[in-house]
Amino acid sequence: MSDIRQDVVAGFEEAYGSAPSGIWSAPGRVNLIGEHTDYNLGFVLPFAINRRTIVALGPRDDGRIGVASAYADEVAEIAIADLAPDRLRGWAAYPLGVAWALGQHGADLAAVPGVNLFIESTVPVGAGLSSSAAIESAVALALNDVWQLGFDRPTLAKVGQLAENKAVGAPTGIMDQSAALLGREDHAVFLDCRSLESHLVRLGFAEAGLEVLVIDTGVKHSHATGGYASRRASCEAGAKALEVASLRDLTVDDLPRARTLLDDETFRRVRHVVTENQRVLDTVDRLRTNGPLAIGELLDASHISMRDDFEISVPELDLAVETAQANGAIGARMTGGGFGGAAIALVPSDGISRIQVAIDGAFAEHGFGQPTMFTVTASNGAARD
Ligand code: GLA
Repeated sequence: MSDIRQDVVAGFEEAYGSAPSGIWSAPGRVNLIGEHTDYNLGFVLPFAINRRTIVALGPRDDGRIGVASAYADEVAEIAIADLAPDRLRGWAAYPLGVAWALGQHGADLAAVPGVNLFIESTVPVGAGLSSSAAIESAVALALNDVWQLGFDRPTLAKVGQLAENKAVGAPTGIMDQSAALLGREDHAVFLDCRSLESHLVRLGFAEAGLEVLVIDTGVKHSHATGGYASRRASCEAGAKALEVASLRDLTVDDLPRARTLLDDETFRRVRHVVTENQRVLDTVDRLRTNGPLAIGELLDASHISMRDDFEISVPELDLAVETAQANGAIGARMTGGGFGGAAIALVPSDGISRIQVAIDGAFAEHGFGQPTMFTVTASNGAARD
């Protein structure tokens, strides 16, 4: 058993005085391309990473759920019958929100036994790598198993999203939970966020001598407040003004007309989403026909679109991307919701240390805090361990 799994078992025993009956885990994700397209019912191409959230679970016989973790001093507890979004606070809202959301999807919560959970993670929090979706997906799979609910993975992704939207209060889309639940080693998840149909697309990075470097700027963000929601509102306003159900219904051919009908800011928001959808399709096409060395310019173009049109980048992300590009990266872009968090660079394996040194130097020169850098590989989705 790996160290973290031993820690989780030990943590569970310390919190609850007995051994867990099982262990489940789910990964964080990197979004290769397709940003702010999910809630516009467009396309995304994330992959699950080799950093995971581990959940140990054991039964209890009083109809309550307990949640504890290495990060919180106390055990949060609530009767299953009392689960409701406005009764959930702090980080416990993620796992408990999932239990509530299972009920919203048809699970008979009056008939399920109580459980204790202990949670630990190697997904960095606040880095834009979906540490929250990793918790939600691991807990959703664990409860689905022990409560014998029989939901499929796409439904569990919706459960996680509902928990995030209602219990945590972040108006996020379906991408992160889908990556955490559907990911596969060496593959990205190509998801159509309207039909929810998904396909695994082989990445082949290692074979092409490439690695994905994550540059966590350390700039913290929260999607429960501010910019994320306002971008979402702009997209909805744009769709309404253009009389389409969602921005998914537009293509790049519609942009000239959109420009005449929308104010400049809304137009640029719309243009990001419409062109980003096309870039996802192009990336999938190039991965399938030409391989990963051919996708760099699409990653670069995605970053420029987020920086200039969607305006969700920050100077630290721009500097990380530009420095990676100038020092040999095949392509680079910020990943995730923006306003902080991490950038990714697709980098030749033998050029990683040069890029890291260059980024460290550039950050120091600009007076920015030192970024954290590590490589990730495309990994399997949530599982019972
Ligand atoms: C966050 C959200 C996702 C998605 C991305 C932006 O990660 O959780 O649903 O909207 O931002 O692509």
